[in-house]
Amino acid sequence: MKQCGAPSRAFCLSAGGLEYCERLAITLLLNYSHHSMQKIIVAPSILAADFSRLGDEIRCVEAAGADWIHCDIMDGHFVDNISFGPEIVTIVRGLTSLPLDVHLMIEHAQHYVPRFVKAGANSITVHVEPEAKHDVQKTLKQIRDTGCRAGLTLNPETAFDLIEPLLHKIDILLVMTVHPGFGGQPFRADQMHKVRRARSLNRKLDIEVDGGINADTARLSIENGANVLVAGTSIFRSKDYAKAIRQLRGE
Ligand code: DX5
Ligand code: ZN
Repeated sequence: MKQCGAPSRAFCLSAGGLEYCERLAITLLLNYSHHSMQKIIVAPSILAADFSRLGDEIRCVEAAGADWIHCDIMDGHFVDNISFGPEIVTIVRGLTSLPLDVHLMIEHAQHYVPRFVKAGANSITVHVEPEAKHDVQKTLKQIRDTGCRAGLTLNPETAFDLIEPLLHKIDILLVMTVHPGFGGQPFRADQMHKVRRARSLNRKLDIEVDGGINADTARLSIENGANVLVAGTSIFRSKDYAKAIRQLRGE
């Protein structure tokens, strides 16, 4: 007796089976980007959520088809804004089973990494700029040693050359498409060369874009090789989260 859910060959060859196989192939095609041949991942940034109803907001984006939850951590030093810390990430962890993608816009990341790991982060991304005041290679190793995925990011003003030698040491490259610190800023198309360069060097890397992502800028980012879309305003300020997420995927 066959136990698994995969259709048998005999079923595939029957008339109903062929229809099933066709539907399966179309679904798979739709779920994968034509350009990167990687699944498009949508990561709503809760910075734009209504924090008075954080539980509802997270349950709603999960039900609407979000893949990851993006948590923006700002310390008022590395960026000119303060958001939230590990205690809120712990609360978010209790609200969803989706992977938590933690973007640290802070100084001395190495000091705080263990707290975000304990809070339930699945990936932690740190900045490469000297103003972030940490030993980037050591912090990446520290993150990976915990079993978390390690990401590296760069501001729009930072040259790609700074990150290129480290590409083989990371799981995620986050290309900032706004200057970090605030949601709701306009997308910077002049950052697309970084996405293209990274994709040409590594076909499997998760390349994430963050800042000003809507249906149009998502399409441009995917065309250039991105496969992870962080979006705050275009999801949480829309009336229909599921529609907004589908539009980001180009559906
Ligand atoms: C900016 C943050 C972003 C921001 C994106 O510093 O890293 O994740 O929340 O917000 P929107 O989508 O509104 O540009
Ligand atoms: Zn972010």
